[in-house]
Amino acid sequence: MPKNSERSVASTQDLGPSAQDPAPRTRHPEPSSQELAPRTLFVTGGAGFIGSNFIRHVLSAHDGVRAVNYDKLTYAGNLENLTDIKESERYRFVRGDISDAKAVAQVFAEEKPWGVVNFAAESHVDRSILDATPFVDTNVKGTQVLLEAIRQQPVERFVQISTDEVYGALGKDGLFSESSPIQPNSPYAACKAAADLIALAYAKTYGLPIVVTRSSNNYGPYQFPEKLIPLTVRNALAGKELPIYGEGKQVRDWLYVEDNCRAIDAVLHKGRIGEVYNIGGDCEKQNIDLVKLICEILRNHPETQELRPRIQFIKDPRGAAHDFRYALDCRKIREELGWGPRMSFETGLASTVEWYRANRPWTERVITGEYRDYYRKIYGACAP
Ligand code: NAD
Ligand code: DAU
Repeated sequence: MPKNSERSVASTQDLGPSAQDPAPRTRHPEPSSQELAPRTLFVTGGAGFIGSNFIRHVLSAHDGVRAVNYDKLTYAGNLENLTDIKESERYRFVRGDISDAKAVAQVFAEEKPWGVVNFAAESHVDRSILDATPFVDTNVKGTQVLLEAIRQQPVERFVQISTDEVYGALGKDGLFSESSPIQPNSPYAACKAAADLIALAYAKTYGLPIVVTRSSNNYGPYQFPEKLIPLTVRNALAGKELPIYGEGKQVRDWLYVEDNCRAIDAVLHKGRIGEVYNIGGDCEKQNIDLVKLICEILRNHPETQELRPRIQFIKDPRGAAHDFRYALDCRKIREELGWGPRMSFETGLASTVEWYRANRPWTERVITGEYRDYYRKIYGACAP
């Protein structure tokens, strides 16, 4: 793993939430509300984790923006994530599938969107290993349906939300840049790579205004509790085992979700068409260390200091498809768009753990029978 001094960008580990972005060579201010004429954004997958945080971000950052949230409401979609803005005049929810060309065309005709941000996806690696079919349907076919929709009815911008997983796995050293080879390993990553490359091909072939973001692991409020951080907090609060795949040595780069939303906003309004932007948190952690940090945060809290959650190493359900490490070179977005993460990991993780602690009913409401079945398939007989 490279030391921060070996990186070409400054570490953000010690920056507080109000710290300024590091000074890039060419700095552009982030878009302000005054810059934007009223415009409608067609946001797909806006009832999920990042999509709901993005809708909240974009409505509060830009008075002139309206968001149409087009979401199928799969197990991961939850309208409760947007309770605070559901009555806003600048928000509309439409239940629909991005693979349904007719339904997409109908909302496009009604709304005449200025831009599209495509978050909608099957997003969990472990589920893609159990059954890749919905991943091909939504992540690949659904993306192509949206791209056809903008061929028929032009928009000013289309942002395809991709992932660092398209690059495959790194060893202990090095970073992925936007020109690194695409070498996905899991069915999830392969479907995201297909969508990412189809989007770039549509930009080139048809001259469409498409930009792609590839971000690292997001964390923050409203993440479905199948993912490492919310699952660990929930299990810890319930006095259950904390499952770690293999020896927990894999490394992920953690990015606070609001920082990603700011980056997507900047790419949407100022990114160069046909380009890819990496978005990383510059915050690499081994899984085992992250889980131990969560235990420590909970132990320091007066209400949960009696908790003694137990880490349990389990057979890795990802096998050879478990990527060892991801890490991103984010010079491009820093230098071109003046973006950098603002949230320190220490503050971000503490506030995220606190959010899940304070919002246990939110988590418990999304624990359905479907979740229990899934949990048993991955973690064995133990109930979640
Ligand atoms: P999520 O699983 O929390 O949410 C996905 C949303 O998409 C849900 O609301 C779901 O109902 C909706 N959806 C699924 N299939 C749909 C369909 N066919 N039509 C319409 N809506 C559909 O996912 P997330 O973690 O918020 O990820 C959002 C996007 O960001 C995904 O494209 C994912 O690949 C990408 N991404 C996520 C991360 C991360 O760390 N979470 C990092 C990089 C990239
Ligand atoms: O890197 C970006 C990707 O980050 C996104 O594209 C995906 O949509 C998102 O889900 C996330 O993928 P990961 O597979 O990295 O996230 P997850 O939280 O599922 O797992 C993080 C690491 O923790 C991974 O190495 C597997 C491990 N893990 C996960 C779970 C759920 C465990 O050890 N135990 C667990 O119970």
